[in-house]
Amino acid sequence: MTSPVVRDVRPGDMAAITAIYAESVVNGRGTFELEAPDETEMTARFAAVADLGLPRLVAEVDGRVVGYAYAGPFRTRQAYRYMVEDSIYVAPVARGSGVAGALLDALIRRCEAMGLRQMVAVIGDSDNLASIALHHARGFSHAGVFKAAGWKHGDWRDVVFMQRALSQGGDTPPDAPGLSLIDKKPSA
Ligand SMILES: CC(C)(COP(=O)(O)OP(=O)(O)OC[C@H]1O[C@@H](n2cnc3c(N)ncnc32)[C@H](O)[C@@H]1OP(=O)(O)O)[C@@H](O)C(=O)NCCC(=O)NCCS
Repeated sequence: MTSPVVRDVRPGDMAAITAIYAESVVNGRGTFELEAPDETEMTARFAAVADLGLPRLVAEVDGRVVGYAYAGPFRTRQAYRYMVEDSIYVAPVARGSGVAGALLDALIRRCEAMGLRQMVAVIGDSDNLASIALHHARGFSHAGVFKAAGWKHGDWRDVVFMQRALSQGGDTPPDAPGLSLIDKKPSA
């Protein structure tokens, strides 16, 4: 497979993004969502992330969108304005070829450029070895597990937390305004 090209999301990407996410909702446990949102809903979720100035990226291989990533607020209380949660989804056909790694590298760089200080991954389930390995390879450490946090596909599913400092992390006070949080979290 040729190397992925990572770029900002454009409006014409939303159909591909919706399809990639739907596959994971239906077949996977990386997300605890049970019913796949349609393109209108996904577009609204991405717009909410864009309103906060946060990066939304796609990876293209041979001109086709095969994966996407974005950073969203972790929690909406204002003290959390330097912390984001990443979301990354890759189409099954393109997995195992470095697409997610390229997306996450770019996402980290973009969030650091905004003066953000922590990135967390909220990973379903404990057996999601691909996501755990992806984050570990990008410097994330394990930060805890909520056991049996969700019920999906006929079984209890854990949520694994991983965390990575951005730039100076907690070593220095913030030097940027951070996110302008509103009291509502995009749920994508
Ligand atoms: C998790 C996911 C995004 C990884 O995407 P990917 O493009 O296959 O990942 P990459 O090929 O870039 O691999 C990234 C790293 O993880 C490792 N990895 C990937 N799949 C792996 C697997 N099944 N088992 C162990 N390690 C794996 C790779 O070796 C690589 O490590 P390296 O950078 O040190 O070489 C993809 O499997 C996916 O979309 N899964 C379903 C949705 C999901 O769970 N998303 C995460 C939500 S938190």
